[in-house]
Amino acid sequence: MIILSTSDQDLDTAAQAIQKGLLVVIPTETVYGLGANLWNRHALARVFEAKKRPSFDPLIVHIAKTGDMAEIADTNVPHALLLAERFWPGPLTMVLPKKEKVPELATSGLPTVAVRCPDNSVAREIIRRSGVPVAAPSANPFGYLSPTRAEHVIAQLGGKVDFIVDGGRCKLGVESTVLDLSVSPPVVLRPGGLPIELLAEIIPDIRALSRSESSLKAPGQLPSHYAPRKALYLIPQGLVSEAGPRPAANSAILCFGQESSYKAKQTGLWAKVLDMSPGMDSVEAASVLFEYMHELDSQDYTEIWAELLPEKGLGMAVNDRLYKASFKG
Ligand code: TXA
Ligand code: MG
Repeated sequence: MIILSTSDQDLDTAAQAIQKGLLVVIPTETVYGLGANLWNRHALARVFEAKKRPSFDPLIVHIAKTGDMAEIADTNVPHALLLAERFWPGPLTMVLPKKEKVPELATSGLPTVAVRCPDNSVAREIIRRSGVPVAAPSANPFGYLSPTRAEHVIAQLGGKVDFIVDGGRCKLGVESTVLDLSVSPPVVLRPGGLPIELLAEIIPDIRALSRSESSLKAPGQLPSHYAPRKALYLIPQGLVSEAGPRPAANSAILCFGQESSYKAKQTGLWAKVLDMSPGMDSVEAASVLFEYMHELDSQDYTEIWAELLPEKGLGMAVNDRLYKASFKG
């Protein structure tokens, strides 16, 4: 595995490697992606193998500009072009009827394909120079915490990929919002970096799957996902106190807001208290969520506890990840 910078020459190297069918990890504004040439079946197969990802979990195809969407998907679907114009480049993935030539391996045999144009100029430049659409799931072993820094990828998948482009810390820190436009009304299959409130301005009858529906109706959205190796326990928002939680000795907690982290310290129940956002900003919390979880998972704390966020804005995406990370099947 070779680590690349974002220099002009290294972007060329990354782009050529993708074009040739090698695996290249690229930074995006959400999380790092494990990129492969969509037209190269061997490369796609290696993506599933490297992540130990089940074949029923389809990949997101990344493009450099909206104009490239029509090569892989039917764009003649209500809202598709308007959403692209409004929210791309950005953390919105649209599920659309696929074009015949898109390999079934990428879509897990579904008649639809997920497409996204990332809001990261390094990612877009690599895709543009490669000259092909880039299939890229998050660059983590299946089921584990998503990577928001190149170091996370090196530690988790280092031996299994050809190149890692180090673009620093991912600005948003949670994955894109996945919106299925192939059904009417459109359905949010995964809450993510684009708040559903913004989508509802354009699609008033938009629907979000409930937590129990999500694992049944959204491909790849298993009840357990995004998880640290350690046990994770949740606390309802605003209820961090002495009463109730019984963490094991030497456990850590992720709080949301100054008041909660102050209370958590007062109880003396946790050996480490991290605050996802002292000012209770869900965007800030989303940007540090995986980073803090990686940090706590790699240190010798016994259990990880986390306070949920209010269910609005990016709070929906953060809570979705926390619920799935805490699921014990
Ligand atoms: O922000 C992101 O979306 C990141 C970066 C790298 O772009 N990618 C990402 O990919 O999160 P991944 O593979 O971890 O999650 C993709 C999810 C799948 O698990 C599945 O739930 C959904 O997107 N998906 C992909 N294709 C689909 C399809 N045809 N129909 C329904 N859902 C699909
Ligand atoms: Mg993922």
